Amino acid sequence: MSAESNAARHFFFETQNMKSNIDTNEIARAAALIRAGKTVAFPTETVYGLGADAFNALAVARIFEIKGRPSFDPLIVHLADIAHLERVASSVPLLARTLAEKFWPGPLTLVLPKTAAVPDIVTSGLNTVGVRVPDHALARALIDAAGTPVAAPSANLFGRISPTTAQHVRDQLGASVDLILDGGPCRVGVESTIVSFAETRPLVLRLGGVTVEDIEATIGRVDVFAGSSERPAAPGNLPSHYAPRTPLTLVGADTPAAGEKVGYLAFQSGPKEKCGAVEILSARGDLKEAAANLYGAMRRLDALGLDAIWAESAPESGLGRAINDRLRRAAARCD
Ligand code: TXA
Ligand code: MG
Repeated sequence: MSAESNAARHFFFETQNMKSNIDTNEIARAAALIRAGKTVAFPTETVYGLGADAFNALAVARIFEIKGRPSFDPLIVHLADIAHLERVASSVPLLARTLAEKFWPGPLTLVLPKTAAVPDIVTSGLNTVGVRVPDHALARALIDAAGTPVAAPSANLFGRISPTTAQHVRDQLGASVDLILDGGPCRVGVESTIVSFAETRPLVLRLGGVTVEDIEATIGRVDVFAGSSERPAAPGNLPSHYAPRTPLTLVGADTPAAGEKVGYLAFQSGPKEKCGAVEILSARGDLKEAAANLYGAMRRLDALGLDAIWAESAPESGLGRAINDRLRRAAARCD
């Protein structure tokens, strides 16, 4: 290999507090695996995804198997560039295109009518497809090198906390995934915002990394799904989701029983009561920092074998809405 390709052709990422780089050989290896119908976990700006060739139904079936994901829960298709949108979406309403042009690459998924090329297993039989262009150099390099759209849910077991580091992926799925690309911690830390164009009016199905305020500033008022558990429009909206094993309760909803070993998930400052362990999402009250820390903090508390986790809500605006949505779902244990 030439000196040029050795030295220069690295991908650099700045993450919260570290730089990481992966050479093009590893990207080529990962892309070859995708083309061969295998699975590759990869970083995005939101959370790590578990990817496979979106046009290969068998490869996509393996994703459902690895995650223990019910087949009624469709996957998001990831593109390297907005120019590839027509490969998976058969029509793109004007407002959807406006959002794509404004927020891609970025934490926004659009639900659009699908093309025949997208297999039913990707969309769980729906005639729409969820699609986004991730804002992560490594993710886009992988998809670009694979030469095919990549279907990828978050790389966690179904219903559990999404991974925001490669180690989280190794811990839960390590043995079953063909390759895990490590791009350091995810910058955004909560999943993409999903906006559906399945009906005439745009509808936010899942709160996430792009705020409702920013969407409304771009295309005007949108409805936000406040649906029930029975037939979730986006199954990520199941009431119990993103859940740690330790019971999580929102502060103010109840009080800890005497003698309980309690962990406290604070938004900005620690608890008044004595606690076994405390995690502070952002000491300066910054919602972006809090979102980026959320899942890691939940995992650390969950690993301590506590009786309960007490969680404070974030302010209910901007990214705080997505944080609070995840906390409510983490609290709603059905098992
Ligand atoms: O940030 C993200 O979106 C991450 C990264 C990896 O891109 N992915 C992610 O995927 O969170 P997943 O599978 O954990 O959540 C995808 C959500 C599910 O709730 C699914 O129901 C919804 O997207 N979804 C996908 N296609 C859909 C469609 N055609 N109609 C409605 N909802 C859809
Ligand atoms: Mg998920």
